[in-house]
Amino acid sequence: MEGTQFYGLFGMILSLYRQNKFPGIGQMFRYTLRDESNHIELLRNLFMDLMEENREIWTPEFKEELRQTMAEAIALEKDFIRDCLPVNAVGLAIDEFLTYIDFIADRRLEGCGLAPLNPGAKNPLPWLAEMMDIKKEQNFFEGRVTEYQKASALQVASDDEL
Ligand SMILES: [Fe+2]
Repeated sequence: MEGTQFYGLFGMILSLYRQNKFPGIGQMFRYTLRDESNHIELLRNLFMDLMEENREIWTPEFKEELRQTMAEAIALEKDFIRDCLPVNAVGLAIDEFLTYIDFIADRRLEGCGLAPLNPGAKNPLPWLAEMMDIKKEQNFFEGRVTEYQKASALQVASDDEL
């Protein structure tokens, strides 16, 4: 489930970042997600090696148990998304984030040799992958802080303005 939990929230923040809102926190999330990509690949490799070394536990029953655990994780993540975004607002459409979780959960399952739960699910947020794949050579310490300072200037903003 590494790489599925909280991805609804990550997607929402980056969607706002894409609209030039929250530039500082958006940049921070991009770096966080680059790190998450490493976690996903590390844990996937570890899992696959463990299954290779312990073939006797890689049974159809165990595979189905893992798929059902993922299904439960998806349901929890979708509840979380509905809490974060009870209505479509500020350019965010809840259905896109719900479908996105189905899509990435299937990528995680398939990455571990498991059958998808929603075969054929399409990625409703294709731009998100590019945004998460921040250039590795970009140096965090060379990033400009001025954009963040501008955005967070001491103005009182109402939620309706976001
Ligand atoms: Fe992680």
